[in-house]
Amino acid sequence: KKKIIIDTDPGIDDAMAIFLALQSPELDVIGLTTIYGNVYTTLATRNALHLLEVAGRTDIPVSEGSHVTFTKGTKLRVADFVHGTDGLGNQNFPPPKSKPIELSAPEFLVQQANQYPGAVTVVALGPLTNIALAIELDPEFPKKIQQIVILGGAFAVNGNVNPAAEANIFGDPDAADMVFTSGADVLAIGLNVTHQVVLSAADREKLSQSKGKLAQYMCKILDIYYSYHLDAYGTDGVYLHDPTCLVAALDPSLLTYVEGVVRVQTAGITRGITIFDNTKKRFAEITEWTDKPSVKVAVTVDAPAVCNLLMDR
Ligand code: BDR
Ligand code: CA
Repeated sequence: KKKIIIDTDPGIDDAMAIFLALQSPELDVIGLTTIYGNVYTTLATRNALHLLEVAGRTDIPVSEGSHVTFTKGTKLRVADFVHGTDGLGNQNFPPPKSKPIELSAPEFLVQQANQYPGAVTVVALGPLTNIALAIELDPEFPKKIQQIVILGGAFAVNGNVNPAAEANIFGDPDAADMVFTSGADVLAIGLNVTHQVVLSAADREKLSQSKGKLAQYMCKILDIYYSYHLDAYGTDGVYLHDPTCLVAALDPSLLTYVEGVVRVQTAGITRGITIFDNTKKRFAEITEWTDKPSVKVAVTVDAPAVCNLLMDR
């Protein structure tokens, strides 16, 4: 079984990804770490605990992450207009009974990397602050883990916060640039791929007929996500950002990747834009790019297979 830690800002598509992971016998979810993004960190922690209670998996530790960006002082942007003010479709669920562990998310990440050297995959579904802080805590962290699979970036397509930036990278561009250039084995799943993976209204209808507890729960919280997509994109279906990223950790063969260097703009109107250089030798003298380790960026996806996997599980 592949050991994974899910760093998350739940979030409706985060909830789908977490449930998909918990329902996948190929994966051993060894922890959830929380981060601001769709909601503030305190609420992200509460939602992570709640989702584990719904799934009957309170044996999995939840560790609370940073409340502020890596280079402190950046104003946080939350996406309550996408996910609801509670982050889970405005359902006003009762507060969870369980509590987060004492270790902070960066401490937990480093501890687990040391406990299972080379065997931990981090699936990062929110801004990359906790991962950057883990690297600051232990500069060897990137080499100690197996892989980081990131939902983040918009590679050669528009962002979703503004024309330049995707939300998770926009949330903490300094952290993102640090993680992309850290030397870790990184798989990056961006909007160029996730905007092809749409859960249609018909899929939702099918889901609502399932007797599965998690399917029923998802149907409840999905309403607001469908309305948002109809308003913002005119689609009668929702983008499966975080579940697609989880699938890349579960079965990487459902996507294809190109290797190259990714840098993140940290200032100006293009703050949070992800630039991918796969030109290899053409810009050889420009060391801000060529001195950096390569990562793998997803370029195609078998969208029906991702949807089917999510629906099945
Ligand atoms: C990403 O931002 C969050 O709103 C989603 O949960 C996803 O992780 C999409 O840009
Ligand atoms: Ca997310």
